[in-house]
Amino acid sequence: MTNEETNAAPRKQRMGTATPQAASAAPKVETPAGETDARPAAKTRMGASPAASAPAAPAARTTRMGSDTGMPANPAAVPAPATRMGAAAPGPAPERMDASSRAGRQPGHAASAKTGAPKGFLAGSLASVPWKRAMLTLGLAVVAVVVLVIVARWLRTTPDVQSFLGQYPGHPTLPDTVPTGLPGWLGWQHFFNIFFMVLIVRTGLQIRHEKKAPAHWTPEPNSLFSPKGSTPKKVSLTQWLHQALDILWVANGLVFIVLLFATSQWMRIVPTDWDVVPNALSAMLQYASLEWPTENGWIYYNALQMLAYFSIVFLAAPLAVISGIRFSTWWPDQNSRLSRIYPIEVARAVHYPVMLYFVAFTLVHVFLVFFTGALRNLNHMYASRDEADWLGLGVFVVSVLVTGAAWILTKPLFMRPVAGRFGTLSK
Ligand code: HEM
Ligand code: HEM
Repeated sequence: MTNEETNAAPRKQRMGTATPQAASAAPKVETPAGETDARPAAKTRMGASPAASAPAAPAARTTRMGSDTGMPANPAAVPAPATRMGAAAPGPAPERMDASSRAGRQPGHAASAKTGAPKGFLAGSLASVPWKRAMLTLGLAVVAVVVLVIVARWLRTTPDVQSFLGQYPGHPTLPDTVPTGLPGWLGWQHFFNIFFMVLIVRTGLQIRHEKKAPAHWTPEPNSLFSPKGSTPKKVSLTQWLHQALDILWVANGLVFIVLLFATSQWMRIVPTDWDVVPNALSAMLQYASLEWPTENGWIYYNALQMLAYFSIVFLAAPLAVISGIRFSTWWPDQNSRLSRIYPIEVARAVHYPVMLYFVAFTLVHVFLVFFTGALRNLNHMYASRDEADWLGLGVFVVSVLVTGAAWILTKPLFMRPVAGRFGTLSK
């Protein structure tokens, strides 16, 4: 079916009754599918959904630096200046920094590892060797997945669960005026989001693990990176790059949100009915039993996809911004009251786990994009069309190459002159 035809299709036809292509593209879901079609109008459904994994706990770490605060920071803003980052200290910057000594970081993690707390048999003999521990974790994960699949498949044979799946097939109720398809602007926004996100995660991890900053950078007072009320803090070049990318990523995100609401496209990712909850459970069960919900992302996302997309756009992204600002050069650290109300420890406790959530989301999301009809899905997002030819994949490959080029161009060698335009570089 062509794009035009799909768009022209009357609303009732679009929902409930799957388009011919959709029906052929996706195997029918045993139990609920038939009844789904009989659901009242204005209910649409969809297919591949990235299951949003819960963020993992932050890993303990022993080294870091990068976001050094060279200027004497407001003590209220940074509770233990001497322990921050090393760079605050004059003379040669310390090469390493025990994470546990940084304010608000890794409470207990590093300490228990070093104090020789009693270890069990596994921890002492097997798990003390890193690769053995990795194999053990992998083995346990495989067993957990197998058990999950067996339990989910068994559940689907029980009459109660079957009637639940019949009642909630996995697609949330959508407003009648929900648009069909993915417009070109959304593809561009989505591309720029990935482009910046890749570089932001990379610079974030560099900040976290950097032993020695490639250079330092101090913003001009009352400038883009150090507005009125903030102290021009000396930070690593990596942190400058992280923050510069943040500006572009947030600008892109704001344009995305404005367009989302200006075009009704928001209806596809913002829940408007509580039935999204049981439907998400239903979709979860269908994924877990390896009989995946019907795939039809051009028309609607399933409840789990909707919740995952909603959470990433409207929860994770704002949390990353709010927590990041707290330890950035933008924070008005002269305002000690504000710094007391919003302690830096809170921001630290949020920022890294949010990154883990972004990464976990992306892994599951991309896995499902590729395993639920890659060509068609990529055409949706990268070519704005509901076809299963190679165009979308071609555009996607070009977008990966562009992102790869940016990866190379954002090395310190190329970034120094750019950073120099926004502040003063130093060793
Ligand atoms: C406007 C948005 C953001 C701002 C203002 C911001 C700002 C910052 C700053 C200032 C640091 C240095 C912290 C320090 O001194 O240790 C940092 C670290 C980091 N950022 Fe961001 N960031 C933002 C968004 C993001 C996003 C979207 C991600 C990933 C999805 C991310 C991942 C990280 C990571 C992994 C670190 C290292 C954290 C650690 O050492 O524990 N940031 N960020
Ligand atoms: C290589 C990486 C990625 C690929 C190939 C990809 C691909 C796609 C595709 C094909 C869709 C449409 C799904 C469908 O038609 O069923 C989609 C939707 C979406 N993706 Fe991605 N994605 C990637 C990375 C990301 C990242 C990193 C994020 C955010 C952190 C993200 C957020 C979203 C959101 C929010 C939607 C729903 C957009 C809407 O309809 O308003 N994606 N993605």
